[in-house]
Amino acid sequence: MNNGTLFGIGVGPGDPDLITLKAVKVLKQVDVVFAAASTKNGYSLAEEIASTHLKEGVRIVRLGFPMTRDRKKLRTAWEENAHTVVYSLRKGKDAAFVTIGDPMIYSTFGYIMRTIREKYPDVPIEIIPGITSYQAAAAAAGEVLAEAEESFTVISGALGAKKLREVIDHTDRVVMLKVYREYKEIMDVLDQLDLLNGSVLVSRCGLDGERIVRNLEDGIDSAPPYLSLLLISKRGRWK
Ligand SMILES: C[S@@+](CC[C@H](N)C(=O)[O-])C[C@H]1O[C@@H](n2cnc3c(N)ncnc32)[C@H](O)[C@@H]1O
Repeated sequence: MNNGTLFGIGVGPGDPDLITLKAVKVLKQVDVVFAAASTKNGYSLAEEIASTHLKEGVRIVRLGFPMTRDRKKLRTAWEENAHTVVYSLRKGKDAAFVTIGDPMIYSTFGYIMRTIREKYPDVPIEIIPGITSYQAAAAAAGEVLAEAEESFTVISGALGAKKLREVIDHTDRVVMLKVYREYKEIMDVLDQLDLLNGSVLVSRCGLDGERIVRNLEDGIDSAPPYLSLLLISKRGRWK
């Protein structure tokens, strides 16, 4: 029996209309859907977005990915999850691994894809891109990401503002994802670099509770939700 194909599918950043026709077409055909879920609460936004497009009787499997930086624990989780996915594909059924935004940027799909390529190189994998969170945020905020000769750099704020300090002198604009945990430190550094005035915080873009905050210099008392990012420009406001 031939292996089924694994489709890595980006379902867009939250707004259920921001999913591609191709993603919908493939979701309607697959027999199994894998979704990365927090090991804390088992919730998967990607699964929720995909759910309205699935054929009847499809099997949905949530894969737990621990929120840890312990490489050994992570590696074990990737290998176990890759094994679960491949076990299902070996039955000849196609499967989708759904991911928020695009699967090729800051997604658990990347780890699964690499582990499968390494350990099970005969398994066919296809990737269907999705609209990223920062594209949707730029559109919602009406902010250009780059024009003319400008560059923009996408960084993670998961470890704080160190990356921002590294890149800011070499790029025109910065998109920072995963800002929620180290938000206070990131705000302090934006202030020190005189960047608060040119930055926009976008939270839960396209979802209930969406917030677009421009007056960051006024301060935000509490940390924003997990689904939050910053659009940062050196040139004052992006208009
Ligand atoms: C693991 S990354 C996923 C990135 C995703 N693959 C993409 O293409 O945008 C999670 C981070 O993406 C950002 N994000 C995802 N969806 C978002 C949304 N609807 N609104 C604001 N930020 C979002 C947040 O910075 C969040 O911490």
